[in-house]
Amino acid sequence: MIRFFENYSLKSHNTFGVEARCRYFFEFTEPEDLETFIQSDETWKELPHFILGGGSNVLFKRDFEGLVIHPNIPGIFKVKEDRQNIWFEVGAGEVWDDFVKYCVDYEMGGVENLSLIPGLVGAAPVQNIGAYGQEVSNVIELVKGYDLQQKLPLEFRADACEFAYRDSLFKRDLKNRFIITSVVFRLEKFPEFNLKYGQVEEKVKELGEINLQNIRKAVIDIRSSKLPDVNELGNAGSFFKNPVVKTEVAEKIRKHYPDAPVYQVNESEVKLAAGWLIEKTGWKGMREGQVGVHEKQALVLVNYGNATGKEIYDFSEKISQTVFEKFGIQLEREVNCV
Ligand code: EPU
Repeated sequence: MIRFFENYSLKSHNTFGVEARCRYFFEFTEPEDLETFIQSDETWKELPHFILGGGSNVLFKRDFEGLVIHPNIPGIFKVKEDRQNIWFEVGAGEVWDDFVKYCVDYEMGGVENLSLIPGLVGAAPVQNIGAYGQEVSNVIELVKGYDLQQKLPLEFRADACEFAYRDSLFKRDLKNRFIITSVVFRLEKFPEFNLKYGQVEEKVKELGEINLQNIRKAVIDIRSSKLPDVNELGNAGSFFKNPVVKTEVAEKIRKHYPDAPVYQVNESEVKLAAGWLIEKTGWKGMREGQVGVHEKQALVLVNYGNATGKEIYDFSEKISQTVFEKFGIQLEREVNCV
């Protein structure tokens, strides 16, 4: 199925809930629909285009004078299985958390710590979604899609996707060029649980047995207690990435603030918590007009109602400037600003 609109509102297509219009909006449910459109319609060539999944990691700063392409391909299909693993191909338009629930219900491990992350499956590899010690790249086997430049369907094996912390090839070299249509995941029949992050283990034990259902429940509890529900308060999860810095930089900060959270990345680098840095500059819970920093998680910016994308963006600039002045650390946005 194809849907095509002109002068289309994106308000219901971004979890910040900001008003922005695009010149054209193209939605499709079959990979073949996309191919037909690209081969037969040349409109997209002259216009800037933007690939939109669930809109949970995007901030529209203004109207978009171009074509928005929205892959909405459904389906979860078993590809194959062996004694240890089971492979599923999932359409880009499936809701990520529905897939996680499906895996947990059928006792397949590998994505349970990624419960309740908003967005669609097609966007998961782009920013290599991660939480509570798991990253989606660990269970991706293959990413399938369509290359707008070569006008060809293409597939990338996981080792060709250049996955890194909140990063991939699709976010850089292939940005707005490669449209993901489905992802093949490799799940574990006998998973090793990952309980090391934060309060996960403690929460699971409170719930009883250590199993996939209880891990999912624990993660949902932790997320819900810190992160605002997009249906109640517009937001896009973490607005900034956690900065990766040289160990010496973190040591300097630790001299003044021994409680600063630091996570080892490799021998010479560590990750700092952007939420902590923002909290220390006094922004946590602050509000200016319709925009604010969430009171329970300083890494999350919220729209209290009718904020514009520009207001949210300008507010975020003020925050990163204050963090830079206080700590000399330049925060990098995690959210895609359009
Ligand atoms: N912290 C503060 N103040 C705050 C927020 C956090 O001091 O206001 C401290 C916490 O006490 C903790 C540390 O910072 O010591 C890390 O906090 P948290 O566990 O809440 O996670 P995060 O680093 O802020 C990252 C991801 C989240 C993911 C969580 C859990 C990024 C950019 N964000 O947040 O992902 O859910 O870890 O794994 O890496 C997202 O990407 O949208 C997202 C929500």
